[in-house]
Amino acid sequence: MALAPPPPRVLIFPLPLQGPVNSMLKLSELLCLGGLHVTFLVTDHIDARLRRYSNVQSRFRSHPGFRLQAISDGLPENHPRGDKFLEVFESMKVHTKPLFKELLQSGGISCVIADGGLGFPLDVAEEVGIPLFIVRTISAACLWVFFRLPQLIQSGELPFTGDDDLDVMVKSVPGMERYLRRRDLPSFCRSGNVADPNIELYKCESTNNPRATGLILNTFEELESPILSQMRGVCPNIYTIGPLHAHLKAKLAATGTSLPDFSNSLWEEDRFCLVWLDDQPPKSVLYVSFGSLATVTKDQLMEFWHGLVNSGQRFLWVIRQDSVAGEGQVPMELLQGSKERGCIVNWAPQEEVLAHPAVGGFLTHSGWNSTLESVYEGVPMICWPYFLDQQVNSRLVEEEWKLGFDMKDTCDRSVIEKTVRNLMEVRKDEFQRNAAQMACSAKTSLGEGGSSSSHLERLIQDIKAKSVV
Ligand code: UDX
Repeated sequence: MALAPPPPRVLIFPLPLQGPVNSMLKLSELLCLGGLHVTFLVTDHIDARLRRYSNVQSRFRSHPGFRLQAISDGLPENHPRGDKFLEVFESMKVHTKPLFKELLQSGGISCVIADGGLGFPLDVAEEVGIPLFIVRTISAACLWVFFRLPQLIQSGELPFTGDDDLDVMVKSVPGMERYLRRRDLPSFCRSGNVADPNIELYKCESTNNPRATGLILNTFEELESPILSQMRGVCPNIYTIGPLHAHLKAKLAATGTSLPDFSNSLWEEDRFCLVWLDDQPPKSVLYVSFGSLATVTKDQLMEFWHGLVNSGQRFLWVIRQDSVAGEGQVPMELLQGSKERGCIVNWAPQEEVLAHPAVGGFLTHSGWNSTLESVYEGVPMICWPYFLDQQVNSRLVEEEWKLGFDMKDTCDRSVIEKTVRNLMEVRKDEFQRNAAQMACSAKTSLGEGGSSSSHLERLIQDIKAKSVV
């Protein structure tokens, strides 16, 4: 009797950053559960960190079709990478592209899912003749702004600088006219220069994305439907399968598999903070984290510290060792003075923190993963965006979803104090109610027949139908 052919092998190639690596590992596991084989391709730098700090290898033992594979980003080992990611991308275009081509030509890969932010995999896959799905780990809203960059330039709405009036409304992004101001556009739009390297990088999105077999987004229909319907006018084949971190848990729970202990962290998690949270009253703690890339100055750090302490609220604050510009360590005065109501850690198990009953708010940089994790757990937010998509996401949190406050472009202790009080006390019920409703629709989207669940099934069918080997 002839043996059945092996399942198609999908190569998943995320951006070399914590957020995208995290969500793409969840996608990998979902595809493995859907009967596909997966090669997870990361840069050497990410590979080393995953092997050191995460439990990826043990997690995937139950999926023998999963492989973790490394590729060079062309940079020396001691390059800081971190928020110098444009340098990393530039180097990858030159050094990683030919290696990636060799890998695809060497056979065995049936289909590619690559982060659209990398750019070159689409050209290579087209040359080699392998179907490629683009995946984006940013919000549909921000991607839609990228799609509209040519129109923003044509209409004269770009360029402008940070010294211009940033409250002017933006008209060239259909579906967002009601609330989008200049200050809510991705931060690079303030450069005053249409030849800005970021504008150059993103202005081809509306022509590149439709070239791919499909576009996979880590969002759910109910969260971004007005924007998704606009985007489908340009790029019809969109799969909304988020929030990915919870989608995997939902699928495992539906098959009766016990929920695994996830850790995709590129830093060592301090689990003590969960013990600290156990001792705090329900919904009393503000969780504070600015993600994996953002850095703050010592002055900003002190404004946050005074604002938090003066608000009288309890807080759990993640201060990454490399996050205070120019400082090797968290200042001692800050650690000492926080002991009464605060807990400070280097890196937290964030999903578990946000799911903890003691957490009642999230002061966040509005990275897309953090936003989705907060939405899913029904935790209202105070947004202090750092760069890129975060400027857009934070506006949606305040104006479109009514899930909290957008504190962009300010860093003042009295504003921080007042905003924290407003979220945690004055308008607590209103925000908790809105957040609970949104969390409910996120959960529905992942259930049987829900939007994200159906889109994932369609994606797996389409991968099987279009695979080349
Ligand atoms: C970057 C961009 O900043 C973001 O806007 C974009 O959407 C994706 O790439 P990052 O700064 O890493 O992301 O933020 P975010 O997308 O929020 O991802 C951070 C991830 O790290 C989250 O999954 C979060 O759960 C995790 N995290 C963060 C921890 O596990 N522990 C922490 O202490 C902090």
